[in-house]
Amino acid sequence: MWTAKRLAKAYLDFFKENGHAIIPSASLIPEHDPTVLFTAAGMHPLVPYLLGQQHPEGKRLANNQKCIRTGDIDEVGDQSHLTFFFMLGNWSLGDYFKKKAIEWSYEFLTSKKWLGLNKEKISVTCFAGDKDAPKDEESANVWLSLGISSEKIFFFEKKDNWWGPAGKTGPCGPDTEIFYDTGKKACGKECKPGCNCGKFFEIWNDVFMQYNKTAEGKFEKLKQMNVDTGMGVERTVAMLQGKRNVYETEMFLPLMEKIKQLAREFNEKSAHIIADHIRAVVFVLSEGKGIVPSNIEQGYVLRRLIRRAVRHGRLLGIEGSFCREIAKKVVEIYGDEWPELKKNSVAIFKEIEAEEEKFAKVLGQGVKMFKKIFKKHGKISANDAFLLYQSYGFPLEMTVEMAKEKGLEVDKQAFQKEFEKHQALSRKSTTGKFKSGLADHSEIALRMHTATHLLHAALRKVLGEHVQQKGSNITPERLRFDFSNPEKVSKEQLEEVEKIVNNAIDAKISVQRKEMSLDQAKKKGALAFFDAKYAPEKVSVYTIGDVSKEVCAGPHVKNTGEIGKFKIKKEESVSAGVRRIKAVLE
Ligand code: ALA
Repeated sequence: MWTAKRLAKAYLDFFKENGHAIIPSASLIPEHDPTVLFTAAGMHPLVPYLLGQQHPEGKRLANNQKCIRTGDIDEVGDQSHLTFFFMLGNWSLGDYFKKKAIEWSYEFLTSKKWLGLNKEKISVTCFAGDKDAPKDEESANVWLSLGISSEKIFFFEKKDNWWGPAGKTGPCGPDTEIFYDTGKKACGKECKPGCNCGKFFEIWNDVFMQYNKTAEGKFEKLKQMNVDTGMGVERTVAMLQGKRNVYETEMFLPLMEKIKQLAREFNEKSAHIIADHIRAVVFVLSEGKGIVPSNIEQGYVLRRLIRRAVRHGRLLGIEGSFCREIAKKVVEIYGDEWPELKKNSVAIFKEIEAEEEKFAKVLGQGVKMFKKIFKKHGKISANDAFLLYQSYGFPLEMTVEMAKEKGLEVDKQAFQKEFEKHQALSRKSTTGKFKSGLADHSEIALRMHTATHLLHAALRKVLGEHVQQKGSNITPERLRFDFSNPEKVSKEQLEEVEKIVNNAIDAKISVQRKEMSLDQAKKKGALAFFDAKYAPEKVSVYTIGDVSKEVCAGPHVKNTGEIGKFKIKKEESVSAGVRRIKAVLE
């Protein structure tokens, strides 16, 4: 049977045989990318290399990448959308292009040695061409040469056959998507690949990243022609196993069974939502990057996922805390392959449970308030429902449900209007933050990133060598750096750290990059904190004079003189033994 494990192994073996270096999954939390909250595709962490920087492992790469797409959050619970998923991908960084990429995809899918899919059931789509880029005859010709007949080659516009940039700017290009006929009856005459009736299953996407979308909306040719491909593991496994959906595969079955056990009134959709959301939360928390449920950025997504799961637990008639039970199962299913789940399980369970309890309180307060309003007015208006939502985080569905028990209806449309009005206001301040955008490798991000290395080095100098980076995040406004330290950093120590960083900036030191094996890097005294399992063979080492030497993917400024004045704004606790510094460049 094609389990997820077997599929990933086959995929990576295949590309290894074809000269690809297998690189570890990058973190779900992009470190040096101010415009995205989560890694949404394997290409995100590779943006600098798609733009031309040399990758230490070479020009052919492949991996199994952990991804989160929060844009799909409201569609979770259908047959195929997941918040968190694994994506197998292979990349050419200016090496092979359309012909090889397509040939290898086809071989992996259809060769008896690999997936052995029926060639007759494969159809493909290619880019139809527009003012920005020509019709992709080249890909279509490769497909023809492989024996795919012209009736099975479809041409679509950018909306369907173009990938990236996920944000406003960055690498992108036309793609060719590969579909498999599931054998389901066509929904009508117009049914073709891309139709979402379930007949055509999208199995793989080969993107030809040869353009850079600029801030002005222009598509400029990149320095090099790249390939970026993606195959969603969960979906593909479900298809290969002939299952109705991902939740029937070994990746989710133990979760579904547990939920069934706990539920008093089972419904599939709620169970799917719980399983998806808790799995996503466990993987984010497992990275130990200091991200915990909160009201901002990634923490807000965690909060929303946990609360939505709890809500659906209530719909299933589950009383009391249950998320920990589900999280435990997630660790059981994935813990062997992703050791950080086991290693951090105590902290993972603790955070989930704490948020669940907080939400239980909110629900309690909301119920009280609901009763009060009802007692006073004998009804619940849309405005009341919105107030409950805004002040207590009390979900509309709960209000609707409780109103229904009293024989009342809540005007959902009017609620929606209130909601949109409010969103329109708050969106103004968070534009771009909640979208899965591509890296905007703006100058400020480069400067902040290099400043982070100086900060790391300065902290080790002032506090001691026990200091290790635990997480880092950069927005256009500030940098955030989490590190291990058992206690609060004193005002004097912070001043000392600031001074060391600013001295290094004033000294205008050039920043040097060198590639070497991880062993060599360590011998040279470069800071490198990898779990043994994820250690790549070759790495880039960035050296800043004798101030800092660190293994890092880059990119950085060329000279510390470009950074500007460094100022620490805040020092605080994140969790036991982890501190956080927020700093700005003036
Ligand atoms: N980046 C491409 C995708 O996610 C491969 O579909």
